[in-house]
Amino acid sequence: MASRVAVIGAGPCGLAQLHAFEEARKQGAEVPEITCFEKQSDWGGLWNYTWRTGLDEHGDPVHGSQYRYLWSNGPKECLEFADYTFDEHFGQPIPSFPPREVLYDYITGRAKKSNVRQLIQFDTVVRWISYDEETGKFAVTVETRGDARTRTEEFDKVIVATGHFSTPNTPSFEGFGRFPGRIMHSHDFRDAQEFAGQRLLVIGSSYSAEDIALQARKYGADSVTISYRNEPMGFPWPAGIEEVALLTNVDGNTAHFADGTMRDVDAIVLCTGYQHSFGFISGELRLRTRNVLYPDNLYKGVFWLDNPGLMYLGMQDQYYTFTMFDAQAWYARDYVLGRISLPPRADMAADIAHWRDRLAACADPFDEIEFQADYMMDLYKDVDYPSYDVDLTRAHFRAWEHDKEASIIGYRDRSFSSPCTGTVAPVHHTPWWQALDDSMATFLGGQE
Ligand SMILES: Cc1cc2nc3c(=O)[nH]c(=O)nc-3n(C[C@H](O)[C@H](O)[C@H](O)COP(=O)(O)OP(=O)(O)OC[C@H]3O[C@@H](n4cnc5c(N)ncnc54)[C@H](O)[C@@H]3O)c2cc1C
Ligand SMILES: NC(=O)c1ccc[n+]([C@@H]2O[C@H](COP(=O)([O-])OP(=O)(O)OC[C@H]3O[C@@H](n4cnc5c(N)ncnc54)[C@H](OP(=O)(O)O)[C@@H]3O)[C@@H](O)[C@H]2O)c1
Repeated sequence: MASRVAVIGAGPCGLAQLHAFEEARKQGAEVPEITCFEKQSDWGGLWNYTWRTGLDEHGDPVHGSQYRYLWSNGPKECLEFADYTFDEHFGQPIPSFPPREVLYDYITGRAKKSNVRQLIQFDTVVRWISYDEETGKFAVTVETRGDARTRTEEFDKVIVATGHFSTPNTPSFEGFGRFPGRIMHSHDFRDAQEFAGQRLLVIGSSYSAEDIALQARKYGADSVTISYRNEPMGFPWPAGIEEVALLTNVDGNTAHFADGTMRDVDAIVLCTGYQHSFGFISGELRLRTRNVLYPDNLYKGVFWLDNPGLMYLGMQDQYYTFTMFDAQAWYARDYVLGRISLPPRADMAADIAHWRDRLAACADPFDEIEFQADYMMDLYKDVDYPSYDVDLTRAHFRAWEHDKEASIIGYRDRSFSSPCTGTVAPVHHTPWWQALDDSMATFLGGQE
């Protein structure tokens, strides 16, 4: 068994990993020394909201990509920890689509209960990870940010949980250099009220584009034009939001699109996704992938094929989040504890190929939901994660897709039942489209 394990990052994935080890320890397992390095001064990853954009107080890129008024975009019942339910945390049933602060409270609630904070070194950024073939150990160089000191420690296993929605993918378009208004990436978007009274152009056709377009209009933008590259989202947009083809160029304030449409706009938000960025990992260990449901070279979606002592959590595109992270964390833990052994490299490569072939055959989001649920089940079957009704979450996600198609401003008003407790979520006191206050107090309390 490994004697020293490094976990990089204390976001939802890193916290899931620390919790998984702690659960085993509580049940009497001999657990190696676990050290978690977190570059921020607090835990929660993206859910730990920051007003900062650009560089942080130490001159490093800001990790946070979440913004004010962000609400869960999937039913909470599809991400409910099987060993720490919403009922347990809140002591009362709560609606299905909570705002950010509520989910932050929930994630960190489990981490507090399992007392894993003591395992985390905060304000400690990992600058370099390499592997020594001779010793069979990883060298992890960290910098403590208060005093800018670096040191290198040896570990038997390394688990990378640094997320992949923090380094923006930022294309340019002709005329941007002379555009008279603001151009930004969704990574830097913080407060929709900034665009009140403006004509906004949003580029992209995925979750950020959808949500930022809605946010902006909800908080007072005059109009929002969404420009897609491949396919429009095609939701029934409320008045003031429309989808057009890809931007070709801007000329002054005038945006020109591939379908011949022209619109005068005041500001542009690039909702063009993120890059998997691991500049702190030596090249031969570094995951290189687009945002897909099954990245190449990761056996079980976790183990680096050429050196499975290096594990990555949460690197997939995500329908499932916290429960998928738990499945991965439990599996990684059991490998570290020697409870699971991995097959020969050729078998691992064949397994990856099998999943990637199946992914290539997915035709729509409904297939993708089944794909990711099956992937989780494949992990769950080998570990002792408490069982819950995964099939119910598949049905919830299918219903959610239909709800979005029926009403993109109303889908967050729907209620789902818990796959763990059966509790049916109450309807929120204020329809999402009218709910301007996203605080936990207002969400859990009375009317706005
Ligand atoms: C705008 C936005 C909205 C989202 N909304 C939802 C939602 O509604 N529901 C949902 O389920 N999911 C949502 N997600 C998905 C999100 O990816 C997951 O919920 C979750 O935050 C992923 O957890 P993680 O631990 O993998 O990564 P992160 O949350 O990104 O955490 C990674 C941690 O690693 C730390 N770190 C990074 N590099 C280093 C380093 N070199 N050294 C030390 N520490 C480091 C970071 O500081 C951070 O704390 C959203 C994502 C975005 C971008
Ligand atoms: N809670 C919430 O409400 C909320 C809000 C925002 C984001 N999120 C989460 O954040 C994560 C990231 O979502 P995301 O939308 O930022 O990233 P994403 O899902 O990876 O989507 C990236 C988008 O950028 C487009 N794109 C990339 N390069 C482009 C280019 N050169 N020109 C035009 N379009 C380009 C892609 O277009 P193609 O489709 O054509 O490739 C795609 O639509 C998701 O997990 C999501 O759930 C949640």
